[in-house]
Amino acid sequence: MSAAIRDVKVSVMGASGGIGQPLSLLLKQSPLVTELSLYDIVNTPGVAADLSHMNTPAKVKAYNGPEQLKDSLKGSQVVIIPAGVPRKPGMTRDDLFNTNASIVRDLAAAMAEVAPKALVAIISNPVNSTVPIASEVLQKAGVYDPNRVFGVTTLDIVRANTFIAESKGLDPQKVNVPVIGGHSGITIIPLISQCTPSISFPDNQLKALTERIQEAGTEVVKAKAGTGSATLSMAFAGARFGLSLIRALNGETGIIECSYVKSNVTDAKYFSTPILLGKNGIEKNLGLGKLSSFEQKLLDAAIPELKKNIQKGEDFVNKK
Ligand SMILES: NC(=O)c1ccc[n+]([C@@H]2O[C@H](COP(=O)([O-])OP(=O)(O)OC[C@H]3O[C@@H](n4cnc5c(N)ncnc54)[C@H](O)[C@@H]3O)[C@@H](O)[C@H]2O)c1
Repeated sequence: MSAAIRDVKVSVMGASGGIGQPLSLLLKQSPLVTELSLYDIVNTPGVAADLSHMNTPAKVKAYNGPEQLKDSLKGSQVVIIPAGVPRKPGMTRDDLFNTNASIVRDLAAAMAEVAPKALVAIISNPVNSTVPIASEVLQKAGVYDPNRVFGVTTLDIVRANTFIAESKGLDPQKVNVPVIGGHSGITIIPLISQCTPSISFPDNQLKALTERIQEAGTEVVKAKAGTGSATLSMAFAGARFGLSLIRALNGETGIIECSYVKSNVTDAKYFSTPILLGKNGIEKNLGLGKLSSFEQKLLDAAIPELKKNIQKGEDFVNKK
């Protein structure tokens, strides 16, 4: 890893949680982060005291409770949001809407005031709706830049890479599958036909693999049996995405990550595709590429669901 070429302050919102703690650990470990701001409504002084003993350069500061919210965001170039409740068995991501919608709305409102130029990476579910929520809040405050608001879908890519590598006996770090669409059930669309290295599967295996990728979060929720959803693999994926944003901010070129962003690639106003990252966030949306007929059907099925999720997020902010 290269050393930081400029000061980068990263704020983790929800830093005491199941994702927030290992995510903060991975960010603290990176020489690309010079200051780590930990915000939560509980326990951040303890988490910060613990992490601050690591002999890595990032300075760690704790901010606890709403009265310290704005201070936690001031001067941040990157804001990562895993705040909110996770799923329990039997729940969909949309079941989290009522609680997490207002959490993301309030964090975005604070960002609009004190960190309007930061790049924001939203992990809190349902991502399909929380990204429109944050965008609407920033828009209403007159500071919205669609190139700076990202929904984190990286875990879907990480999972797809892992499952494909396992089934083909490949090194999972050398497999790269774009996953497009959204981040829930049928809106998760792995583009296995665009995998590098190029691979193929018989139809029944392709269908089973696609469904496993779409339902991988539920696999973890079931295995954790009521104690939460993916936290460690999500922290890994969130750190990868956050560090990609920082590398691009630092001027590194050619950094590409799939992310759920404001988009005109399809009929859905927000959509995940591979994105070339730059100093101002989205440098270029790389679009869908060529889809197989199987993938085109997945896309057709996903769009109405995505539109519904987006509308729900927008209505939440715009209700009287
Ligand atoms: N995008 C993805 O791929 C993905 C994957 C897994 C989980 N998630 C989502 O991430 C979120 C967090 O999951 P978790 O397992 O870490 O949950 P968790 O309950 O362990 O942690 C959530 C943290 O958020 C904090 N919090 C609550 N309200 C807050 C507020 N107003 N401001 C700041 N912090 C607040 C809580 O105190 C807690 O520490 C959930 O919504 C979950 O569904 C997303």
